[in-house]
Amino acid sequence: MSVSRRLFSSMSLGFPLLSFSTQSRAQSASPQARIKLDTERVIGEVHPHVFGNFAEHLGRCIYGGLYEENSPLSDSEGFRKDVMEAIRGLGVTLLRWPGGNFVSGYDWKDGIGPKDQRPTRPDQAWGDLDSNRFGTDEFLRYCEKLSIEPYVCINAGLGSVNEAREWVEYCNEPRRTSWSDARRRNGREQPWGVKIWGLGNEIDGPWQLGHKNAEDYVKFAREAGKAMRRADESIQLIASGSSDFGGNADWVGWNREVLEGLKGDIDYISLHTYIGNRENNFERFLAVSRDIDYRIEVVEGMIHAAKTGRRSQRPIYISFDEWNVWYRARGGNTEFDTGRTRLEERYNFEDALAMGMFLNSFIRHANIVKMANLAQVVNVIAPIFTNPQGLYLQTIYFPLAEYAKQKNNIALNTLVESPTYSIDNRGPIPYLDVSATHSKTENAICLNVLNKSESKDITTRIDEADGKLSGDAEVWFLNHGDFKTEHTFGDDKKVLPTVNPVKLRLDGRGFNHTFPAHSLSIVKLKLKA
Ligand code: AHR
Repeated sequence: MSVSRRLFSSMSLGFPLLSFSTQSRAQSASPQARIKLDTERVIGEVHPHVFGNFAEHLGRCIYGGLYEENSPLSDSEGFRKDVMEAIRGLGVTLLRWPGGNFVSGYDWKDGIGPKDQRPTRPDQAWGDLDSNRFGTDEFLRYCEKLSIEPYVCINAGLGSVNEAREWVEYCNEPRRTSWSDARRRNGREQPWGVKIWGLGNEIDGPWQLGHKNAEDYVKFAREAGKAMRRADESIQLIASGSSDFGGNADWVGWNREVLEGLKGDIDYISLHTYIGNRENNFERFLAVSRDIDYRIEVVEGMIHAAKTGRRSQRPIYISFDEWNVWYRARGGNTEFDTGRTRLEERYNFEDALAMGMFLNSFIRHANIVKMANLAQVVNVIAPIFTNPQGLYLQTIYFPLAEYAKQKNNIALNTLVESPTYSIDNRGPIPYLDVSATHSKTENAICLNVLNKSESKDITTRIDEADGKLSGDAEVWFLNHGDFKTEHTFGDDKKVLPTVNPVKLRLDGRGFNHTFPAHSLSIVKLKLKA
């Protein structure tokens, strides 16, 4: 095995359950990998919005997911109480709505006022009918109930600049105007105060209603942003960055032009990425972390380039505002065909490991990735799956919920030396995919390690630079013998993490530990007082 050494950026590692027997095995094997932790090597704060999520009018995400009127499982407002409970457990901090492709054909005015008077419209993105019974006030009320930050994406496809401006006025205007009065008539006296607004969805994609080239998109987004800020100058704006990374797409050019054209106006640029394992090749599936890191780093460089030479510009961050595994529940040649499958992806054990891969990358880039939204929250490519009688938690739910506890921690630049592998001459790819965060409030380091090797356990020497480890640790661990194991109704306990307190056998500034093949570990290392 070759060994890669990576300074100033912790690569993702795989990790086993730290049971006492595993620990003693680790003590006897000589290390093949090395991790060095240092709380003084700071990348940045893990922003809480990195644990955001996404709800689109698509399939059963809203209707039958978040919202089910007249269900015994719902509250008096029609919100499914069991789903709210599961969302709380997931640690969701922010919710993006109403799309997605859906928003590029959406008229927000259809979704306000008395529900029985709202029009049913064909959803032009996915081919369904939308009753509009869940609209702006329902979404914002839902976020308020869950203490989640709302993120509203405007229609930059078939919509107009003025519709976007009016939407901000409806939500945020404190004075008496026709739109704020409409909000009052609809039951909301105080402004909703929506801070985060997206300037359209995937406008780079030919599948998008109202798809534009970069030049036309910049013109639209600049004017929309200007008009929206006339309605509320405090809002934050997210430009539609790359979602199309296909062979013919100039994704670098799109982002460059958008950043050049909108710098000074925007606060974030978005990236979207879905991955899959069609070839049923586990190590190839998890090798895609290189692409995720690369896309972030290329866009970060372009942000710096766009801002060079201009003082007093607002900072621009990356919002990775759609990400997940999505490849089975896709049908047909277009996204419109795909919508008919309702995107009800069933997740297995290897998909759960992929959650660690994405989140490790976001944490390693915590200085620039200040928002990330799993797509989506319920039923549609989602960790929560309902039927009219209840719900179950998919395999991906558990790592997502555990990582979310690291919000507000400080991401650390961690030295990682790991055995590597190659895929199609692409390499070296470290088997150990690692990120680490420092919690000052808990006086602990969280070490997140994904072992991407299908078959090799990797014994690792783990040191803390200043010898601050106390010897007390807690290990969250996810592993399974069958990569394809899924959960379903009544059978949802197969891919569950174990959590164990561990007394480390320290020697010098650290200890040896073995990360089993195909596993994800989150090791909370308590520091000395
Ligand atoms: O999340 C499903 C779809 O994926 C979204 O509507 C779109 O933005 C992306 O292509």
